[in-house]
Amino acid sequence: MKNFKIAVLAGDGIGPEIMAEALKVLKVIEGRNDVSFELMHAAFGANAYFECGHPFPQATIDICDAADAILKGPIGLSHEESQKIPVDMLPERAALLPMRRRYNTFANFRPVSLPKALAHFSPLKPEIIGEGIDLIMVRELVGGLYFGEKEEGVNDEGLRYVRETLEYDEDQIERILHEAFKIAMRRKKVLHNIHKSNVLKSSVLWNQIIDEIAPQYPEVKVVHILVDAAATLLCLNPTQFDVMVMENMFGDILSDQGGGILGSLGLMPSACLGPDKAYYEPSHGSAPDIAGKNIANPYSMIGSVAMMLENSFDMLDEAENVWAAMQGVFADGFSTADLSKPGSGVTMISTQEFGERVVAKLAAQTP
Ligand code: IPM
Ligand code: MG
Repeated sequence: MKNFKIAVLAGDGIGPEIMAEALKVLKVIEGRNDVSFELMHAAFGANAYFECGHPFPQATIDICDAADAILKGPIGLSHEESQKIPVDMLPERAALLPMRRRYNTFANFRPVSLPKALAHFSPLKPEIIGEGIDLIMVRELVGGLYFGEKEEGVNDEGLRYVRETLEYDEDQIERILHEAFKIAMRRKKVLHNIHKSNVLKSSVLWNQIIDEIAPQYPEVKVVHILVDAAATLLCLNPTQFDVMVMENMFGDILSDQGGGILGSLGLMPSACLGPDKAYYEPSHGSAPDIAGKNIANPYSMIGSVAMMLENSFDMLDEAENVWAAMQGVFADGFSTADLSKPGSGVTMISTQEFGERVVAKLAAQTP
């Protein structure tokens, strides 16, 4: 029997609620496969700061180091609550980015998937959604403005200034592009390259490198699109996209727009893969306004489990079963209050009931 160690970082806000449902799904998988999951719970985020003075404490680092994969809930606090934490100890800056750096999780995959059963969540018109949206954003996750040198101070004219650096070397660009080409090969063989080469030199180098490596993937058609135009096209004609690749900051912004066209960031799971370690997390924040109310949909957290099964444990079939189970619950006409307004014709259920229904659907499948 295979034994996989999973570091479970429930996070802040709605994190613990949606994580509880995700872990139920893992139990079903464990029960019917020759595999066991060893869950190692650890504090991460604002809760960890308040408990032990650091949002990514050493004990958590040790657990993550020892894990085969990391399953992470959303982190962060409301704007007001954040004031209680020193700027350099905020979980985004002092936990999440250090985790990305530590495990060098350069490849971030964010599926934007709107099958028929979920189409009613989208703000887009049915004629734009057509047969459904199914694209994946590939975001470089450990370079660019997020990790470049920063400087702040007062300049010669007595003005406060700040400087942040957008830096990429060719290896960093090449490796993320290879990931994008590889996934494009497994899908529709169309790769949209998102850039801003009319302004940024970093995009000029990025585009040179894509031209250099494209011949290694002769079957993949590369389409170049400026990032601002891509933002428009995501609204006007999202179904033209299949795989989109971009640098870190563009990916942060466009992937949230991906959540927008689905109707909620709550429908956005993600996988963050490095050479030796991967972690899986919802693309959204901790939604402190709805925390503890049992109304947050666990889709993004359970979807992150599906991505972990596929990418870290090589259990592609079970990953697909998990997606199908979740979509089945929506198709049966159920939803949670964070996704649907009263009167939208769906039956409103709680976070917990959504999780239980997913588990029931999953258990009813023949694996
Ligand atoms: C995301 C988030 C993070 C990011 C924040 C929480 C630092 O928005 O994963 O998209 O900007 O990368
Ligand atoms: Mg973001």
